[in-house]
Amino acid sequence: MIYKNSKYISNLFNKVSYKYDFFNNLFSLGLHYLWKRKLISLLKPKNGEEWADLCCGTGDMTFLLNELVTPKGKVIGIDISEKLLKVAQKRSNNLGDKIIYWKKKDIFDLDTNSRKFDGICMSYGLRNLRNVEEGIQKVFLLLKDNGRAGFLDFNHSKENSLSSIFQKLYLRFIVVPISGLFNLREEYSYIEKSIEGYPKGAKLIYLAKKIGFREAKYITLFGKQMGIFLLKK
Ligand SMILES: C[S@@+](CC[C@H](N)C(=O)[O-])C[C@H]1O[C@@H](n2cnc3c(N)ncnc32)[C@H](O)[C@@H]1O
Repeated sequence: MIYKNSKYISNLFNKVSYKYDFFNNLFSLGLHYLWKRKLISLLKPKNGEEWADLCCGTGDMTFLLNELVTPKGKVIGIDISEKLLKVAQKRSNNLGDKIIYWKKKDIFDLDTNSRKFDGICMSYGLRNLRNVEEGIQKVFLLLKDNGRAGFLDFNHSKENSLSSIFQKLYLRFIVVPISGLFNLREEYSYIEKSIEGYPKGAKLIYLAKKIGFREAKYITLFGKQMGIFLLKK
């Protein structure tokens, strides 16, 4: 499956980087900010904690985390796409003394022995990893004991349910044609394929428990279009 290869993923996101934020705002009508804030409100990051935003892209979650964990704590945004990280870095230039750390790295190559986090978040990242179970396992290893993690992503609804039909129609008849006008048709067609390969909520909970998380919870948002997956180590 070519679309689960890390190199393919980084090329894909490098290619969409120049329109990435624009399309997120357009296709969600700005609602992705509300969903991201919802995830933060459930995770409750605190001043003094160390957090990682894995698959940070242009850094929306990283900035939200930074507001809450600094000045005593810190946050690092990590992503494999150099071009999306450049956008994130540019956005953080005018933060003054509120430093955000950015790192270009495949999350599967992160060293799990030297560094542990109080919390980890991923928005629209887990579904894009080459292997979801390995991704959850990696998060487990990167967390301190009692650490917490939260993931926001498209919800994989039951096949042929109203929410699944709506999701497919929206992607096929709105997202793909509009992105096609910018020569990004293939890249945005990938979203539907990636949702098909992404586990449903109950399966995500099963995988997390198998890996060793003490608590795992899954909630849906916006008519089951989006899902939030919460974990405690
Ligand atoms: C849909 S974007 C989400 C970006 C951002 N978190 C957001 O919510 O807008 C998915 C991101 O995952 C990153 N990604 C995918 N696989 C990765 C990996 N193995 N290591 C690091 N980043 C990865 C991509 O480069 C891309 O920036």
